[in-house]
Amino acid sequence: MHLEIGRPDFDTPTLVKEAATASLAAGRVHYGPNAGTPQLRTAIARTLAAASGPVYDPDGEVIVTIGASEAVFLAIMAFCGPGDEVLIPVPAWPAYEACVRLAGATPVFLPLDPAQGYSLDPEAVRARLTPRTRMLVVCTPHNPTGAVVDAGRLRALADVLRHTGVLVLSDEIYSELVYDGTRHVPVATVADLHMRTLTVGGFAKAYAMDGWRLGWLAAPRELATPALRIRQFTTACPPTFTQDAAVSALRDTAQERAQMRDAFAERRRAALDLLNGCTGLHIGNPAGAFYLYLTYPPHLGPGDRFARELLEEDHVAVVPGAAFDPTGAGAHSLRVSYARSVDDIREGVSRILRRIDRLSDGGRR
Ligand SMILES: Cc1ncc(COP(=O)(O)O)c(C=O)c1O
Repeated sequence: MHLEIGRPDFDTPTLVKEAATASLAAGRVHYGPNAGTPQLRTAIARTLAAASGPVYDPDGEVIVTIGASEAVFLAIMAFCGPGDEVLIPVPAWPAYEACVRLAGATPVFLPLDPAQGYSLDPEAVRARLTPRTRMLVVCTPHNPTGAVVDAGRLRALADVLRHTGVLVLSDEIYSELVYDGTRHVPVATVADLHMRTLTVGGFAKAYAMDGWRLGWLAAPRELATPALRIRQFTTACPPTFTQDAAVSALRDTAQERAQMRDAFAERRRAALDLLNGCTGLHIGNPAGAFYLYLTYPPHLGPGDRFARELLEEDHVAVVPGAAFDPTGAGAHSLRVSYARSVDDIREGVSRILRRIDRLSDGGRR
């Protein structure tokens, strides 16, 4: 049972595939502009600005990237180098640390507090700021905990950063996947954060287009320009026909996306119904994305062993928390993805709980 997976199990909406086929048939197979096609940049800017989102000029403030991964890479390479510190709240998606190290900069890990539902704590950011701090990574909704940063915390963050030159890399690839009335607040809509924020988004999660490798980086012109320069001399541009399809994804798939979001909400509920009330288990406040980050009592043994035995004996795959947390704090945690069928989730989570029961009863380890 694949509860380790970080992508939707849905197929890409048919209209999007048809748009790609039509684009190929029309001969859209050549290089395009470095920043991406104007049509897709405009569609991205429009999508971001809808419902009081951040406003970006498609001409100079939006770069279409090869997945959100390239957006993260470009933002970090453009602004961070030897001597710079980058604050990474952990647990975290591992690519932030890797890109910071590739850039020659120093990652500074900021433990997210389970007691605060793993939500970013602006005061903890303040405590780690130094004259070398160049960038803060924010991920909301969050991989791997599902935490969503609310407007109050973002306003407090703006206060903390007010007299600094710290940039914010805001990874919002899960922005459309929030549940139970939770609202996603784009970081760049908060007063005083827009001018220092590079917003990352993409098609992999809410659009079921992970294999298409498309995302975006949106930022004020002064921040987008250096990132575009790196793009120009690395990948040059994303494929043209997939960008045409992505315009259709933004414009034509509201219904499919709503259906997928509803399915994720149902799956999340199924998992939480089984997990809530299990004594000794902590799962924070997973209001978004499609992950639960379970922490179990340390006497049950390290997470990598738990995950390996769960896979080998119970045939359920999950990701050990250590993969997301270089500080060691994730040693007794597991990331469980609910991007699978409700049946798989019910059965997989039940097997996790039975293993916890067995280990607890046996008193071994
Ligand atoms: C937080 C986060 N950002 C970015 C990505 C990468 O997205 P993409 O597939 O668009 O490169 C992922 C993928 O798992 C992710 O979890």
